[in-house]
Amino acid sequence: MKSDINVSELEKESLPVHVAMIMDGNGRWAKKRLMNRVKGHEQGSRTVREIVSACRELGIGFLTLYAFSTENWGRPKAEVKALMILLKRFLVSERDELNNKGIRLNILGQKEKLPADVREEAERTMDLTRNHTEMVLNLALSYGSREEITRAAQRLAHKVRSGELRPEEITDETLSAHLYTGGMPDPDLIIRTSGEFRLSNFMMWQAAYAELFITRTLWPDFSKEEFHKILIDFQQRDRRFGKVKCNTSNDGSPL
Ligand code: FPP
Repeated sequence: MKSDINVSELEKESLPVHVAMIMDGNGRWAKKRLMNRVKGHEQGSRTVREIVSACRELGIGFLTLYAFSTENWGRPKAEVKALMILLKRFLVSERDELNNKGIRLNILGQKEKLPADVREEAERTMDLTRNHTEMVLNLALSYGSREEITRAAQRLAHKVRSGELRPEEITDETLSAHLYTGGMPDPDLIIRTSGEFRLSNFMMWQAAYAELFITRTLWPDFSKEEFHKILIDFQQRDRRFGKVKCNTSNDGSPL
């Protein structure tokens, strides 16, 4: 989807700090072309590169990409293997690019479940980029929100048992701090491609006040241009976080 939108139309000061994306539709993209699903994932990897670079150009601080869910282990073995090969390839081929652009790589999810070679390449890229502050790229790998929240609950329970924490000290903030995203801001904008209206076990805690944007575009066809249009839409939304607008009086009547 090409557009004539100029990036200067975006108000830099009201860009989202954290954008998260559910990259869906690779399989359908391939099916439409009578190709193997893996071809869709390959093309999807190209979109990943384009979107990482778009976020860096705009100065977006955090980008989280849902690359492999806890449920995705249930896909055919050959597809899981192909996805792991693509992930490893990305972690190796983008290492210098991420490093040169000041982007810190982070993995959200069950790192221990990843094949050793993928884990090693991820650790290498994370080590190399660990001091960067321009942008954080979170790859959600073997990630599921329910697993993340359960794990946080277990970690808090251990702290209570050891006397490090009192039960009444378990708050919204302490629970947030024990998630994979601990210390990061919640996403302001969650984009899902391919037209499905679901969160699919993605950032369910963190999504509390996120703006949601669903596009029918399949992930391999998603582009920088469409992303810019979505950002313009985001900037026109009225985010109230459960409160009333600022231009109302204390009793809620419009000023
Ligand atoms: C969902 O589409 C997509 C995935 C399960 C994998 C996402 C992976 C990539 C975009 C490529 C590799 C990632 C990186 C970070 C290099 P689907 O297969 O469920 O599509 P469908 O719903 O049309 O079948």
